[in-house]
Amino acid sequence: MPEASILTVYNSKNNSNLKGYRRLFLIFGLIIAMVSLFAQCMNSGRAPATEKTYAGMEACKQCHAPIVESYLQNPHQQTSAAVGDDQIINGHGAHSAVYTFDAHVKLIVEKRDGKMFQVLYLDGKEQLARPFDIKIGSGEKAHTYGYWKGNQLKQLPLSYFSAIRSWANSPGYPADKVYLDRPIGARCLECHSSFADVKSVPDGPLKVKEELKQSSLVYGIDCERCHGPAGKHVEFHLENPQEKTAKFIAVYKTLSRQQKTDACAVCHSGTDMEVQKSTFGFKPGDDLKDYYFRPYGAVAKKSPDVHGNQTSMLAASKCFINSKTMECSSCHRTHENLKGNLTAYSQRCISCHATATIKHSPATLANAMVKTNCIDCHMPEQASNLISFQLAGKAKTSKYFLRTHRIAIY
Ligand code: HEC
Ligand code: HEC
Ligand code: HEC
Ligand code: HEC
Ligand code: HEC
Ligand code: HEC
Ligand code: HEC
Repeated sequence: MPEASILTVYNSKNNSNLKGYRRLFLIFGLIIAMVSLFAQCMNSGRAPATEKTYAGMEACKQCHAPIVESYLQNPHQQTSAAVGDDQIINGHGAHSAVYTFDAHVKLIVEKRDGKMFQVLYLDGKEQLARPFDIKIGSGEKAHTYGYWKGNQLKQLPLSYFSAIRSWANSPGYPADKVYLDRPIGARCLECHSSFADVKSVPDGPLKVKEELKQSSLVYGIDCERCHGPAGKHVEFHLENPQEKTAKFIAVYKTLSRQQKTDACAVCHSGTDMEVQKSTFGFKPGDDLKDYYFRPYGAVAKKSPDVHGNQTSMLAASKCFINSKTMECSSCHRTHENLKGNLTAYSQRCISCHATATIKHSPATLANAMVKTNCIDCHMPEQASNLISFQLAGKAKTSKYFLRTHRIAIY
């Protein structure tokens, strides 16, 4: 039914407030449905979806409900969100977290009128208060927070680190200064959200600044961020329910190994690359060279960091070099949350390395993990050289651990 598709095909990338949008759409939908009925009598149609039309995750539910349901638990989907009023932040209520910079300067996480703030005190006197407006990070490792200042997003000084179950200075912030104006730029959002409308505007001679349209932000990494715009796919399959092969969407198994890896590498090959054009428009099958200036992947830096650069680390492994087929999905199922299930991950190793054929020494074979947990020995956790964080009152910074993707004998 064309009427049904009008109600479901909408461009989510133009609006982050899906609920309000849906309500609007019901009203518009009804009007459009009537107009389209009328138009059909007049023997003409509505504008069809194009390859660039986004449909939004709601639309996928109709035909891919189990995937949508399981995907909602995945850290990608939870990697950014608006912080609502009355939301408890990491279990903290009023006056529950105090971060002391020195004898005079303190930051306190406080609740006021149902909303949470980071409040700066100098010798016990309040200087300023900044609200928790958005969060970045699923919290698997960390939450970092931002607040809106007009059409700019600024990072709050304190982040929450799950490993220590506590607040600490945001990565890169010194222990003796309170920064309140560091921007959360479009680049963070390109990896941690699905869309943001960003403009570069002149800011004095030879300088530009970014302006971000608040209402345009689509939180989390949604289906179409990985699969590309699916408006036409949805429209086609609603109109042709008998068709069982996917149309108007990139089919993964037809992609080359490089294309498959690039579809993850767009966000997983380091946070320090120079961008040619916004990666929000990247879709499977595209070439990363059209988006980044610097070399990436296999030819990138000699010592890539465990944070954010799984692509280069993996490319340096014998498994990757000699298997010719290994890519991210050889081990990861992005619709599920496999976090911490090292037995399931070890099965992926065993699919290429039958345990009986591995030349483990007697000492290794004596280890109880040898049949069920390949990961802790061959992909151990390593400290990032890029990220560390500062606990109150500690001279040294704390380390931030991640799994290395250089699979090897350690
Ligand atoms: C009206 C039904 C329908 C809707 C709505 C729908 N799809 Fe599909 N989709 C299909 C059918 C049918 C297939 C082919 C069978 C299969 O793989 O499940 C398919 C396959 C796919 C594939 C598999 C491509 C591959 O690698 O084989 C992807 C990805 C996909 N859809 C994404 C989406 C996304 C994203 C949405 C929501 C924006 C969506 N679909 C909404 C019917 C639908
Ligand atoms: C749009 C950017 C983006 C794309 C594309 C992307 N990722 Fe991610 N990925 C992220 C971010 C951001 C995180 C951190 C999520 C969090 O906040 O915990 C992440 C986390 C992960 C994790 C750790 C969490 C978990 O699920 O266990 C894995 C594994 C992962 N990505 C694999 C992949 C694979 C495989 C692909 C390609 C199929 C891919 N990613 C594509 C941005 C992306
Ligand atoms: C982080 C990237 C990523 C996100 C986000 C993502 N997918 Fe996928 N999807 C993949 C990859 C990679 C494959 C192919 C490999 C595989 O089967 O795991 C795939 C395969 C599929 C398939 C075909 C195979 C199957 O499992 O049936 C469908 C349908 C699909 N995705 C729909 C969706 C829908 C709907 C959403 C949103 C709820 C979504 N995807 C979100 C990366 C992603
Ligand atoms: C090129 C993509 C990219 C950019 C740019 C990027 N990140 Fe990330 N970020 C990731 C990936 C991938 C992960 C998870 C895996 C890892 O750390 O390697 C991650 C992890 C995180 C986490 C921890 C999430 C968790 O709970 O595990 C936070 C918080 C975070 N990023 C904040 C930011 C902020 C703030 C910015 C901007 C200053 C930023 N990121 C820029 C890709 C990116
Ligand atoms: C797609 C198939 C494939 C998968 C999956 C795979 N490997 Fe490999 N691995 C290979 C190949 C091929 C080699 C190279 C063998 C050779 O050249 O002798 C290799 C080599 C190795 C080596 C020797 C490395 C060295 O530097 O000498 C180790 C250790 C290893 N793999 C462990 C693992 C572990 C652990 C996993 C799971 C996390 C895994 N592999 C997953 C194919 C794979
Ligand atoms: C041979 C198997 C294998 C391959 C291939 C692989 N990974 Fe992983 N990956 C793992 C394992 C195992 C973990 C640890 C899972 C856990 O602790 O829950 C992991 C963890 C991650 C994490 C989270 C890191 C952390 O410490 O929290 C990210 C992000 C990730 N992988 C991305 C990727 C990307 C992107 C690719 C492709 C370039 C890829 N992986 C290829 C096995 C693999
Ligand atoms: C207790 C740590 C440990 C565990 C657990 C472990 N390995 Fe190893 N692995 C080693 C060491 C050490 C070597 C080097 C040879 C030796 O000393 O045993 C090695 C060597 C290898 C090699 C290279 C030798 C060859 O046959 O080519 C492969 C492949 C390998 N391991 C795969 C795996 C897989 C797959 C698993 C999980 C089923 C696993 N390992 C579990 C420590 C471990």
